[in-house]
Amino acid sequence: MKSRYSKKFNHDSMAVNYDKDVKNEDHPIRAGYQSLLNWVQEKTKNSKFIVDLGCGTGNTIKVLQNFEKAYCVDISQKMMDIAKEKLKGRKNIIFLKSDFLGFFPEFKETQADTIISTYAIHHLIQEEKHKLFEEIYNFLNKGGKLVFGDLMFKNKEQEKEMREKYPDLAEDFDDEFFWCVDDEVKKLESLGFKAEIKRFSDLSWGIYAVK
Ligand SMILES: C[S@@+](CC[C@H](N)C(=O)[O-])C[C@H]1O[C@@H](n2cnc3c(N)ncnc32)[C@H](O)[C@@H]1O
Repeated sequence: MKSRYSKKFNHDSMAVNYDKDVKNEDHPIRAGYQSLLNWVQEKTKNSKFIVDLGCGTGNTIKVLQNFEKAYCVDISQKMMDIAKEKLKGRKNIIFLKSDFLGFFPEFKETQADTIISTYAIHHLIQEEKHKLFEEIYNFLNKGGKLVFGDLMFKNKEQEKEMREKYPDLAEDFDDEFFWCVDDEVKKLESLGFKAEIKRFSDLSWGIYAVK
């Protein structure tokens, strides 16, 4: 199954400048980027088999060191080419070009214990996010984890606050599908995950959940 906007959000055209752009944490969309990646590292210290959804140029998997094997999934070949170059000595990282929606029902690696994703799932509409959570829940064994960091609003009130604080970002807010933390935690818990949240900046949040 393909996500509705997979063509639009394929980052091929942004690949060349991506790593330079994410270093600019003065921009509210980028603020918290590095601390969020460090949090993913902390939360995956004991993970053995990792799947990284929307791996992009590999910045997240690059900071993780202890795993046995990782599968990095993205629809953008150009983003993954940069990641491959950056991580070329690390033979335990496998790159797969795929939409991450509909990926798990086809995925044969039953050992994967941790699913991570940073700044990618906001490209799915809410219904698709829920479908993805269900696919992941059905895929993971008990004790399996998900570690997601992304652009989120806590709830409708905080969204209103952010829209007032950052009027220049109206287009970004309207064009992408920032998570609603409260709704998505509720959805994850209804599936059977135990979830906790962490905030890294005005717009960057993390959700850690265990099956
Ligand atoms: C903003 S980048 C984030 C990259 C990286 N995870 C990071 O934190 O720097 C989003 C990535 O998700 C990929 N992407 C967007 N929608 C996707 C989808 N439906 N399936 C797979 N990859 C997708 C894009 O091609 C892009 O590389």
